[in-house]
Amino acid sequence: MENCNSPSDQKSDAVTGAEVERDTEFRVHVFSSSSELVEKLHEKWDSGKEKPYPAMYSSVFGGIILDPAMMVIPIDDHMVHRGHGVFDTSIILNGYLYELDAHLDRFLRSAAKAKISSPFPRSTLRSILVQLTAASRCTEGTLRFWLTSGPGNFLLSPSGCPTSAFYAVVIKDKIYQHREGVKVITSTIPMKSPLFATTKNVNYLPNVLSVMEAEEKGAFASIWVDEEGYIAEGPNVNVAFITHDKELILPFFDKILSGCTAKRLLELAPKLVEQGRLKDVRTANVTVEEAKGSAEMMYVGSTLPLLPIVMWDEKPIGDGLVGELTMALSDLLWDDMVAGPKTHRLLVTYA
Ligand SMILES: Cc1ncc(COP(=O)(O)O)c(C=O)c1O
Repeated sequence: MENCNSPSDQKSDAVTGAEVERDTEFRVHVFSSSSELVEKLHEKWDSGKEKPYPAMYSSVFGGIILDPAMMVIPIDDHMVHRGHGVFDTSIILNGYLYELDAHLDRFLRSAAKAKISSPFPRSTLRSILVQLTAASRCTEGTLRFWLTSGPGNFLLSPSGCPTSAFYAVVIKDKIYQHREGVKVITSTIPMKSPLFATTKNVNYLPNVLSVMEAEEKGAFASIWVDEEGYIAEGPNVNVAFITHDKELILPFFDKILSGCTAKRLLELAPKLVEQGRLKDVRTANVTVEEAKGSAEMMYVGSTLPLLPIVMWDEKPIGDGLVGELTMALSDLLWDDMVAGPKTHRLLVTYA
């Protein structure tokens, strides 16, 4: 389209032009060789500080990379310029991968919904992730992985991308139990429609804007409410409530991400029912009124695994203190991560 600039566009073009004029002194460096570029990349990482990313896998390279300066992906990968990629995250704690199979299953469900076929069968993906974690020598942190339609061109359709790509990275981090409560707000950023909310794809702009909105208002994060007025989820976490009748209630997962941690919590929480501390554990539609009137409230997600919420839209939840049942549920999840059954924790043999 030519000559379609509005007068205001022309004005902004003129301003840009003036800036270009003024910036003639600024010369963009042209790297004369790849070794000069590699040297430059190493400057960033060779500062003597501990490296936060001990290992990466790339199917484009066909192996594991230990040099953080080389942990790059191609700019013509359709995940980069079109958002055609899915991802997932599993926790590494005490040298064990927590819930890897649940995360891998969700990852492949997301890939199927995004019409991305994996370059490897599930067993190979799993083996790569375990070998990557072993090579990283990291015993505490996160393992993040992506499937993308792959590199090929800059068009919209991925039909010109010969093979899909698989990337994964190990990130060193402290994983600990949260004992302090946080403040949340109701998000004003529109939430994703069910197809996109239930697919863990890389288009997290609404999620990013939602957490930024919360931070701007002095809160930790936000809560999405769906079009029907029911509680949905947080920007990268699920949410759970304990009623004054001692019922643990989580919103249905049909319009939000099916959280692996929330699902595990639903399996573990009946122990508190057996002990007579909780009356019931269930999923349901939860209205804003019911949610705000709950006795206790919490975020649930892999990296937390559970975070008490004590204040919502400047009003206290229950008595405004961290709830006893919230911490009992947090202990259940934490014990499961630290010493739970082998079916949920995979021991990594470090080379
Ligand atoms: C939008 C969203 N909801 C919920 C979750 C929690 O899921 P999980 O417990 O598997 O980390 C996540 C994190 O993956 C998320 O991104």
